[in-house]
Amino acid sequence: MKGVVLAGGLGTRLYPLTKVTNKHLLPIYNKPMIWYPLEALVIAGVVDILVITGGEWATDFARLLGDFKEMGIRTLYFAYQEKPLGIAHALSLAETFANGDRIVVFLADNVIEGNIIGAKEKFEKMDSGALVILKEVPDPHNYGCPAFDQTGRIVSIIEKPQQPPSPYAVIGIYFYDHQVFDFCRRLKPSPRGELEISDVNNLYAQMGALDYLFLDGWWGDAGASIDAWLRVNRLVAETGANKRALK
Ligand code: G1P
Repeated sequence: MKGVVLAGGLGTRLYPLTKVTNKHLLPIYNKPMIWYPLEALVIAGVVDILVITGGEWATDFARLLGDFKEMGIRTLYFAYQEKPLGIAHALSLAETFANGDRIVVFLADNVIEGNIIGAKEKFEKMDSGALVILKEVPDPHNYGCPAFDQTGRIVSIIEKPQQPPSPYAVIGIYFYDHQVFDFCRRLKPSPRGELEISDVNNLYAQMGALDYLFLDGWWGDAGASIDAWLRVNRLVAETGANKRALK
């Protein structure tokens, strides 16, 4: 399985911290933000990784990650997203890199206390389709939020719903088979003018090919707001991230 780390976007929710740098280069405790998803991938045995970024500071990632082999990464590639047209648009740039293989996509502002080893193992047992990871949160309206049918299957994921259908967030770590790039091509821009990753997941859900599991340990989207960024900093400082002993 290959890893795709999405590190583009304008980071407007963290402005003015993002006035002169990319959000994913900001510190989380003692390391740049992007360190955490890369480390999480390596811990799960995903060592061939594509980082997709954009904007004025894209070359800073190459300088920061020059010693990627010391981090346990085997091959590191970069792609450049010309315009911030959404997560699913950025993901579509990974098609040649994926080359038909399965991928795990990690939004570079997502930090977890535990690891994705269990999720990867579950996805590897699936014949095809996609797997998302859920976490109960106090503010599901700020995220992609799943709606379930009576059997517990996800029927749809609503992006930032005014009335959340469940108390869960779909966290920014997604497992996909090769179909994901065809699905990205079928998307239309959302009201905020972006190709939404939730719409990709909804195409899998409509096919009955979307599975999920719940994350153990804390999860933070450090790019959601300054408060979210501060919370993740505190959690990492106090408890540490990317622990191997959690699911
Ligand atoms: C994105 C996704 C959302 C997901 C979140 C997780 O939101 O669109 O579905 O729950 O990441 O971090 P964004 O942070 O781009 O608003």
